[in-house]
Amino acid sequence: MRLNSAFLTLLTGSGSLAAVEKPYSTWLTDSIISYNIVPKSRWYTEATFYYGVEAVHNHTSSPAYLSYLVSQADPILTPNGSFVSWDFKDHQLDNIRIGSPLLYLYTQTSNVRYRSAIDFLHDRLLNHQKRTPAGGFWHKDPKYPNQMWLDGLFMAGPFSAAYAALFDPKNITLWDDILLQFQLIEDHCRNTTKGNSMLKHGYDELYKAVWADPVTGASPLVWIRAQGWYFMALLDVLDWFPTSHEGYKLITKWFKDLAKAVKREQDESGGWWLVMDEQYKGKKGNYIESSGTAMYTYGILKGIRKGLLEETEYFGVAEKAYKLMAERFVARNGTGGGINWEGTVRVGSLDGKGDYEYYIGINKVVNDLKGVGPFILASVEWERHLGEKNL
Ligand SMILES: *[C@@H]1O[C@H](CO)[C@@H](O)[C@H](O)[C@H]1NC(C)=O
Ligand SMILES: *[C@@H]1O[C@H](CO)[C@@H](O)[C@H](O)[C@H]1NC(C)=O
Ligand SMILES: *[C@@H]1O[C@H](CO)[C@@H](O)[C@H](O)[C@H]1NC(C)=O
Ligand SMILES: *[C@@H]1O[C@H](CO)[C@@H](O)[C@H](O)[C@H]1NC(C)=O
Ligand SMILES: *[C@@H]1O[C@H](CO)[C@@H](O)[C@H](O)[C@H]1NC(C)=O
Repeated sequence: MRLNSAFLTLLTGSGSLAAVEKPYSTWLTDSIISYNIVPKSRWYTEATFYYGVEAVHNHTSSPAYLSYLVSQADPILTPNGSFVSWDFKDHQLDNIRIGSPLLYLYTQTSNVRYRSAIDFLHDRLLNHQKRTPAGGFWHKDPKYPNQMWLDGLFMAGPFSAAYAALFDPKNITLWDDILLQFQLIEDHCRNTTKGNSMLKHGYDELYKAVWADPVTGASPLVWIRAQGWYFMALLDVLDWFPTSHEGYKLITKWFKDLAKAVKREQDESGGWWLVMDEQYKGKKGNYIESSGTAMYTYGILKGIRKGLLEETEYFGVAEKAYKLMAERFVARNGTGGGINWEGTVRVGSLDGKGDYEYYIGINKVVNDLKGVGPFILASVEWERHLGEKNL
């Protein structure tokens, strides 16, 4: 494990983080693994944790993390690489996210069993997921017809991009299709009026949902985690997108525009509000939510590392956020030596009215993997950044 002293010095030097003994990336990962609370199933929640574990594996080179991923993935597959359980009537983008860790395992092990599972998921997406008239994937069929949600771009976007890059890189149709998904979200969910460049949670292309705006089809509010998934999706597809394709420039621009908005919307505490629209900041019931805060921190730090964001403009934002998270959302789990991750809202959907009362009425969960994964990702970026600056 790369436990560098510069990391510790810098943290303890800052006063409030004096109690930190080891890097949070591995500490939280090891804690969660030891609690045995991660189901061996193929749901996106687990897959979000695995994304953090992938980053820790990459950062530490410790084979134990790869073995862990293998031990979690193997029970969901038959020996020939089909899924042990699959409901062929259930079409939802959330089912695709598991493709990302399976792809990671395939690149690490070259085991064809993972390749079969990946091909299956790609086929389900391209050939079985229904689309809106303009070509966007329905978030969920049959439940949410003709609706696209920001969440879905994270569930299917990076997987599709990695798949295309690794197995069919010259197929322009694939790249055009990935770009189209982002373009539709941008067209309907982002309000580009000067000074307001955040994105609403989702849209209904046929305006049937009770919440659909009569002009854009969009839902009424900006929900922190939906926009967080989207922020990560924009950034992560750039790891794979060919720079020669027009989509590379567009996605880069959309990422930078959103980064600007995220910077502007940061609360003075260092975090971001659950419901981010201006009129709800600080309003009764609203709160600084941990999973979204971790997603924005990850996005900013990785954006700096990839040269997409100026360090001088953005590092301070990430630093403030990281300190807040360490103080407010990381807690000791009794005396056992493990830590917990707190303050993550359980869910947010467009099932009902998508209004303020709905979002603030959902409970928060300890060690929710949808927050744990992004905090691990943010921590790896944080530790890399400090390591590179100070070693
Ligand atoms: C705390 O640790 C125990 C095991 O020591 C684990 O079962 C539990 O899930 C952890 N989390 C919480 C919130 O208590
Ligand atoms: C981590 O990722 C980098 C960049 O993709 C790669 O070069 C390196 O081999 C990875 N390390 C491990 C242990 O997978
Ligand atoms: C893979 O195995 C499953 C059950 O173990 C079986 O239903 C399926 O037909 C097999 N697929 C192939 C391609 O052999
Ligand atoms: C590109 O990928 C799609 C989807 O897999 C496939 O139908 C099409 O034949 C491919 N095009 C080329 C030129 O290979
Ligand atoms: C975009 O935002 C501006 C400023 O907040 C607002 O006046 C306008 O109505 C919004 N446009 C749409 C289509 O929602």
